[in-house]
Amino acid sequence: MPAAIYAEGLVKTFGDVRALDGVDLDVPEGTVLGLLGPNGAGKTTAVRVLTTLLQPDSGRAVVAGIDVLKHPNEVRRSIGLSGQFAAVDEYLTGRENLEMAGRLYQMRASTARMRAAELLERFSLADAADRVAKTYSGGMRRRLDLAAALVVRPPVMFMDEP
Ligand SMILES: Nc1ncnc2c1ncn2[C@@H]1O[C@H](COP(=O)(O)OP(=O)(O)O)[C@@H](O)[C@H]1O
Ligand SMILES: [Mg+2]
Repeated sequence: MPAAIYAEGLVKTFGDVRALDGVDLDVPEGTVLGLLGPNGAGKTTAVRVLTTLLQPDSGRAVVAGIDVLKHPNEVRRSIGLSGQFAAVDEYLTGRENLEMAGRLYQMRASTARMRAAELLERFSLADAADRVAKTYSGGMRRRLDLAAALVVRPPVMFMDEP
């Protein structure tokens, strides 16, 4: 079975801090991997490298069969990311947030609209769909952020402290 995520010898330093010190990962498709560690262990740094937001000092990574360093744009098209802090637009409604996410992934407007409605239902946000996200509770924002990461049914999904 091909690996959903494969990483070999990832190293990332910030000045004196060695945030990643030779990380290897081999995560088969169809599985869920939870990465546990104390504050500052390097979990977010690992997620940022694997999602192309940060370049490692050395090592290599392949996500959804695509080399993260060689083809970052293609990797971005194939992953969902829900970062450590929810990235919802406070001034848009829940529905508008999801439709915008779909449009950013280049979905047609009608498809994005349908997908948004489906996800609002699935994440129990239908009743709050047309309220601006500013009025959402922390948990509701988190659910909206997760829904946004799933808009294009990505084959690989990253969640940092979901
Ligand atoms: N942009 C940065 N600049 C400097 N140090 C950083 C930066 N990002 C992370 N670090 C350091 O790298 C280490 C790992 O951080 P992080 O990956 O956020 O840990 P975790 O998510 O496991 O709590 C910490 O010591 C943190 O202070
Ligand atoms: Mg973190």
